[in-house]
Amino acid sequence: MRRIAPSILSMNFLELQSGLESLNEYGIEVLHLDVMDGNFVPNISFGPCVIKDLSKAFDGLLEAHLMIERPEDYIEEFVKAGCGRIIVHAESTKHLHRLIQQIKSFGVQAGVAINPATPLSSIEEVITDVDLVLFMSVNPGFGGQSFIPSVGEKIRKAKKYKDINNSLIFEVDGGVGRSNVNDVFEMGIDLVVMGSAIFNQDGPSHNLKLIQNEIS
Ligand code: DX5
Ligand code: ZN
Repeated sequence: MRRIAPSILSMNFLELQSGLESLNEYGIEVLHLDVMDGNFVPNISFGPCVIKDLSKAFDGLLEAHLMIERPEDYIEEFVKAGCGRIIVHAESTKHLHRLIQQIKSFGVQAGVAINPATPLSSIEEVITDVDLVLFMSVNPGFGGQSFIPSVGEKIRKAKKYKDINNSLIFEVDGGVGRSNVNDVFEMGIDLVVMGSAIFNQDGPSHNLKLIQNEIS
């Protein structure tokens, strides 16, 4: 099932509630929340206190993309804020297996993200423990960047993981818009994060209509 997960990072936060209402009206099932701490990535975004409030305005699943150091210190707070899926970076912890078990102990879905330069071998041993793999197709920290083509080959190599874990979700994050969304789905991707392609000056409703028309 080819789905879009809007990222609010690029949105005008003065329009947060109306933006979320547009996503609800459009039947968006997953909202992608880019949490940045200024250490793991060179940017700072928002935390659990904002997510707690926006969870009251969005009907679907909240997935937190933790681009933070020491994610293990914050899992409980993101669960309490209403996140149904927590995605952590393989590069952000020495104990990835334990971190995934910690997330799942709260009864929420666990995802693992890898940056463009990080090899698949870094997640191979946890493929049967996670619900989702997030392939970063930009270097994390900002919206509005260009898709890094080499990630396509990594996704192709990762296809074998779906034979090992047949409920595994493949998600791509960064640099996807109307011009390349079909190519990305064709790579074997189930869920595509889109930020600036949705939350730009034309507004989410207008953009989602155009994007949906593009998706074959
Ligand atoms: C980047 C974030 C992405 C980004 C996507 O670090 O993880 O989710 O916000 O934004 P676009 O779709 O504009 O590349
Ligand atoms: Zn993200």
